[in-house]
Amino acid sequence: MKVLVAGGAGYIGSHTVVELLAGGFDVVIVDNFINSEPFILDNIRKVSGKSLSFTELDVTDKNALFSFFEKEKDIAAIIHFAALKAVGESGHQPLRYYQNNLVSLFNLLECAEKFNVGNFLFSSSATVYGQAEVLPVTEQSPVIAPESPYGNTKKIAEEIIRDVTKATNLRGICLRYFNPCGAHSSALLGELPRGVPNNLVPYITQTAAGLRQKLSIYGNDYNTPDGTAIRDYIHVVDLAKAHVTALNRMAGGKQKEQFEIYNIGTGVGYSVLQVVKAFEEANNLKLNYEFAPRRKGDTETLYADTTLANNELGWKAELGLNDMMGSAWKWQEGLAKT
Ligand code: NAD
Ligand code: UD1
Repeated sequence: MKVLVAGGAGYIGSHTVVELLAGGFDVVIVDNFINSEPFILDNIRKVSGKSLSFTELDVTDKNALFSFFEKEKDIAAIIHFAALKAVGESGHQPLRYYQNNLVSLFNLLECAEKFNVGNFLFSSSATVYGQAEVLPVTEQSPVIAPESPYGNTKKIAEEIIRDVTKATNLRGICLRYFNPCGAHSSALLGELPRGVPNNLVPYITQTAAGLRQKLSIYGNDYNTPDGTAIRDYIHVVDLAKAHVTALNRMAGGKQKEQFEIYNIGTGVGYSVLQVVKAFEEANNLKLNYEFAPRRKGDTETLYADTTLANNELGWKAELGLNDMMGSAWKWQEGLAKT
């Protein structure tokens, strides 16, 4: 089965491609490297030992995408990772985010219809829950108006995919990722943040590597056991495997609904301080950090109820915080050598 992975050179996309290749899928990648590097494609080949088809293309370029589909026969599924994802930046450049994240979606959905693709898997985010009143959050928990344009593109995209699957034969699954982190055990694939990282784990690894002076822990006055905010961190390899499972469900005609949504997390929440301690212990390092005021837009506690993914998809996260912190650091160390 041939799968188009849009944004397959990126952090989650590259790990997913490795798992798809291991699962026997025929993978074609499109990416414009707006937030990734061509060497990642070579590393995917090294890790998987398989050949890979790649086309450099901006998914918002409708003509280019249609020509690509005309050449690439028999694409049976699309996984759409190709989005801009910097939350803060999206507040300053809302149109750029809506344009990239939604026009890419329109174009891929149009191609799905025109070229009889059949299966559409989308990267959504736990950001759609905001600060939920009841924890852990299930897929039935209320979806709130997101704080950022980035978050709003995820909410809108889910609604668009739901409507399109209702009106056509297209099958759709949206995976709501919690907090992806960690790297491939080979240390050949991992996260490549541009500039100063926004997310916790790359900030930690860059601080440990001496690229940043110290980590600021945003807020130690939250109503949590140690005062720092709690999230559900998920290893990127577990997350990648969830895509393979979801694809098998869709393509195997096993969906109960034509449009489904799943929380993809571990179901366990860790505080920022617990993550820092886990990093120090896993790697036998001391991290320079300080407490700083809360970050605007942050929520106190968020973690997933993963019952639906466990029971319906038959997927469960296997790797723990120790693996996340160990692999993230190995990747960072490898980067320093390149
Ligand atoms: P990433 O930036 O590493 O990967 C995205 C890839 O898409 C990059 O290779 C980028 O070059 C490419 N891309 C972006 N716009 C494109 C376009 N118009 N045409 C072609 N290629 C394009 O990000 P990631 O962390 O791998 O995230 C993948 C998806 O998961 C995104 O949709 C993101 O919003 C979503 N997501 C990520 C997280 C996270 O914490 N990383 C959490 C929730 C959801
Ligand atoms: C952020 C985004 C969310 C997005 C997700 C995945 C915001 C408000 N939310 O989630 O929309 O889906 O990334 O990309 O940006 N932290 C520090 N110091 C740091 C960095 C982070 O203390 O230097 C803390 C944060 O305050 C938070 C936790 O670490 O409590 C996790 O932060 P982060 O990795 O940015 O993820 P989220 O904020 O959960």
